[in-house]
Amino acid sequence: MALNIELLESSFSRIKAQEANFMNYFYLTLFADYPQVKPLFVNTSMKKQAKQLFKSLVFVVENLHCPDVLTKSLKALGTRHIQYGVQPEHYPMVGSTLLKAFAICLDSAWTPNTEQAWSEAYAVITELMLSGAEYPIEILTPQQNDRTVLSDLN
Ligand code: HEM
Repeated sequence: MALNIELLESSFSRIKAQEANFMNYFYLTLFADYPQVKPLFVNTSMKKQAKQLFKSLVFVVENLHCPDVLTKSLKALGTRHIQYGVQPEHYPMVGSTLLKAFAICLDSAWTPNTEQAWSEAYAVITELMLSGAEYPIEILTPQQNDRTVLSDLN
């Protein structure tokens, strides 16, 4: 999938000018819409976390022309996320919240094309992060989970 690099860069430059607003809105909305992810952050300094997440978005946008760099670092980030207790189903939650935060902060610059550009970019980020995360098979699908439980009982 060819990403709309120009639009990603130009829209993100507006977000960079309002980092604190963007991150505050992001975490408030994430925890309001998906309270089930709150426990993952129970031992986390949210101020530091917000800075790290923002830095990683800056890194992604700065390296849109370097797919090799992005692939390597996002795979490694995905691997580390297993240790944080993050599961594949959490990725769409963060994705929809990021899009909401972009929409609020970009206001009239949040056009259908910008939305499409960021949805596609987030899909690629998720794919790369998950490809670096080898989840144990039993948390991938409920059916497989059931099988594991049944075979444990037998
Ligand atoms: C666009 C996708 C994502 C990006 C770019 C991202 C970025 C980051 C970064 C840069 C860190 C700092 C630690 C490190 O570098 O390893 C981090 C930590 C973390 N992320 Fe993510 N993340 C993403 C998706 C998610 C998702 C889907 C969840 C689940 C809700 C999540 C939950 C966490 C947690 C719990 C931590 C650890 C906080 C701690 O240090 O206690 N992240 N993330």
